[in-house]
Amino acid sequence: MPRITVTVDGIVYEEEVEPRLLLVHLLRDRLGKTGTPVGCDTGNCGACTVMLDGRSAKSCSVLAVQADGSDVVTIEGLARNGRLHPMQEAFHAEHALQCGYCTPGMIMAAVDLLKDDPDPSDEAIRRGLEGNLCRCTGYCNIVRAVRRGAQEMSGEGVRTS
Ligand code: FES
Ligand code: FES
Repeated sequence: MPRITVTVDGIVYEEEVEPRLLLVHLLRDRLGKTGTPVGCDTGNCGACTVMLDGRSAKSCSVLAVQADGSDVVTIEGLARNGRLHPMQEAFHAEHALQCGYCTPGMIMAAVDLLKDDPDPSDEAIRRGLEGNLCRCTGYCNIVRAVRRGAQEMSGEGVRTS
């Protein structure tokens, strides 16, 4: 079996993997990163989104062997020094979840979106998250949360009124 080296949430792992093993299954079943859910397993829902070498990727659409030598960040690696990432805080503050199944992927996609557009319009947020589906259809609060997260990350702070 191929042997790969992959860094996940700052820890280096060396794993023997079957060539057909998907990255999401490596993360969940072998490394215990169950914060990354599987929604569809077909690249459609975005629930499994992680950062792969700094950009968002659907981890059910990547083979573990393709991640050899890569740096992966999951929702569990976003918090730093015991503090949630501003985008995690914003989803919490804006109640941008119902069942929460889509939330890890939404947050990862939102963080990636802001790398290209730090001050996105609501339309740009909706476009940027179009690969992530919320079965609970809580899109209004999700868009509000991403806007709030963007403001927090730009250091502007957030108006509460
Ligand atoms: S589980 Fe990967 S896109 Fe749905
Ligand atoms: S909060 Fe339930 S799928 Fe989005």
